[in-house]
Amino acid sequence: MKTQVAIIGGGPSGLLLSQLLDRQGIANVVLEKHTRDYVLARIRAGVLEHGFTDLMREAGVAERMDREGEVHEGFYIANAGERRRVDLHALTGGSSVIVYGQTEVTRDLYDGRDRMQGIVVHEAEDVQPHGMETAQPFVTYRKNGEALRVDCDFIVGCDGYHGVSRASIPADRIRTYERVYPFGWLGVLSHTRPVSPELIYARHARGFALCSLRSQVLSRYYVQVPLTDRVQDWSDDRFWDELRRRLPAEVAAQLQTGPSVEKSIAPLRSFVAEPMRYGKLFLAGDAAHIVPPTGARGLNSAASDVYYLYHAFLAHYQQGDASGLDAYSDKALARVWKGQRFSWWLTQLLHSFPDQSAYDQHMQQVELDYLFSSQHALASLAENYVGLPY
Ligand code: APR
Ligand code: PHB
Repeated sequence: MKTQVAIIGGGPSGLLLSQLLDRQGIANVVLEKHTRDYVLARIRAGVLEHGFTDLMREAGVAERMDREGEVHEGFYIANAGERRRVDLHALTGGSSVIVYGQTEVTRDLYDGRDRMQGIVVHEAEDVQPHGMETAQPFVTYRKNGEALRVDCDFIVGCDGYHGVSRASIPADRIRTYERVYPFGWLGVLSHTRPVSPELIYARHARGFALCSLRSQVLSRYYVQVPLTDRVQDWSDDRFWDELRRRLPAEVAAQLQTGPSVEKSIAPLRSFVAEPMRYGKLFLAGDAAHIVPPTGARGLNSAASDVYYLYHAFLAHYQQGDASGLDAYSDKALARVWKGQRFSWWLTQLLHSFPDQSAYDQHMQQVELDYLFSSQHALASLAENYVGLPY
């Protein structure tokens, strides 16, 4: 097969880039390791910055998101038995976020690919990029036991943290930065009315908790747990009891509980690989960087990578201008690191760390007191939460 851009990975990054390029007549193929159902079964945060939602509209896949997604103009931070609201709308001069599950985003992207007869190869095994240092890169893979090859101009690694793309870059040509957090998030999805119409991020001595939602009949909750915990240690009842303990009493009293339809523990990690390019190979999304979910920046960091890469390919193919491609890594990393900072800052602020000193704990409290005493501090939080400019 011959194409212009070979995309490894059919998650949100790969599908969004594929859809945007196709709409501009730039030929591409997506090679995805798993089945479509497997990809759609992933439960991930769905707080979408306006930059991301604008890209979805430009990709022609935003109709259901704009109809079913919920516009949120604020959220709460709970601490010491009370909750205080961060008024995103007022603090950002009218901006907001859309709450819409990542599963739905991915479903809409797949539907868009289908409508355009986009080429998304599922169950592509042993995908390998080749010739990244040459003018004729290509990708090999196996499907149903047959060895196949895609000749292309460029390869984009959208294959996530555990993918093959970043791993294919020689070790002496890539630098990584990492911080692993000493706890995880136990998440539960339940067909219950969300306890609050807006998200609640709760700091508590027993650990962090988050009240989120997918719709008004589908709730998403998390509690911070030690890394040693396993899902089987947590019955639904134990989860609901622990969540109530970490919420202000007036909130806990309204919690509607029900059977978990999904329950899993996710580790928390901050990670960046530099540069996000090696010859004809570009990295985008989780293939190049990971954030702890606290700030809901994962999908949104992937979106700005896709935005920069999309415009770089447009300039290259439509004007013969390679400057966007040459500037991509630096430009993408500048925003990636700001997303890293915000996610790290919010994680440090709201979680209880095993080795925390009394001073550290007090500093969390002081940071929250300062935050809610200063419109400038709140505006800084708000501009990061709705999304820094591209
Ligand atoms: N070959 C082909 N596909 C692969 C390979 C491989 N070797 N390794 C991984 N993949 C696929 C995975 O199956 C997955 O569907 O690449 C895709 C990567 O998707 P994500 O991990 O979702 O990463 P990304 O598309 O960058 O999305 C970033 O979505 O999943 C969340 O936490 C993530 O919020 C972040 C955002
Ligand atoms: C979620 O709904 O899964 C979610 C929302 C906000 C976050 C993290 C996760 O910051």
